[in-house]
Formats: sequence, structure tokens, C-alpha cells
Amino acid sequence: MSIRYRLCRATDLEDETARGFEVGQGRSRVLVFVGRHDGTLFAYENRCPHIGTPLDLTPDWFFTVDGRYLLCATHGAMFEPIGGLCVRGPCRGDRLRSVPFGVDADGMVWVAP
Ligand code: FES
Repeated sequence: MSIRYRLCRATDLEDETARGFEVGQGRSRVLVFVGRHDGTLFAYENRCPHIGTPLDLTPDWFFTVDGRYLLCATHGAMFEPIGGLCVRGPCRGDRLRSVPFGVDADGMVWVAP
């Protein structure tokens, strides 16, 4: 059974925003980010499918300025926020790796990478 990590309140994630977190320790350590697009929450590993860098070189800057796509700051790949499909950039056609997530009764978002 995987460990659940409680990250932040769902109400803290406004539309077209996301927040990055580091969860786990040692070999289990993983960077994740959770966010909201058009009212829908999402959670992914914070690892670009191109060469594996985190998407946000500036902490928590995951969205393009117009809020339509997630952006990798390293080489500019753009991803659909829901589904994680890369639609532009060097890893076009690849996807961000989704992370199981949910919201507890007290409103806290959790992930279980
Ligand atoms: S590492 Fe993300 S586009 Fe190259």
C-alpha cells in the first residue's frame, strides 16, 4: 500500500495555479505538483518527459501566462493541464506522469505517488 502525503488545502489552489512539493525520502523521494484548471484538480510528478528536469525553474510557476497550458521552463514544452499531454516542444506526444490524488473530508489534498 502506498503512502499518502497531505499537501495543501484544495481551496488554496485557484484556477490556473499549481504548487510544487517534495514528498518521501531517500530513494522514495519524488517531486510532485498539484493544481487546478477550469475547476478540475490534477496532480503530476514534477518531471519533464524530455530530460527529466522539474517544470518550474521559478517555484510554483507551472502555467503559461494565458493559463491554457502547463509549461516546462527548461526548453518550453507545453502540456495540457488535464491529461498531461505534451502538445508543443521537444517531447511532443509524451505525457506528464500522473499521480494518484484525492481530497480528504477536511479539504486537504493528498497524493500517493
Ligand atoms: S526538459 Fe522540459 S522541454 Fe526539455
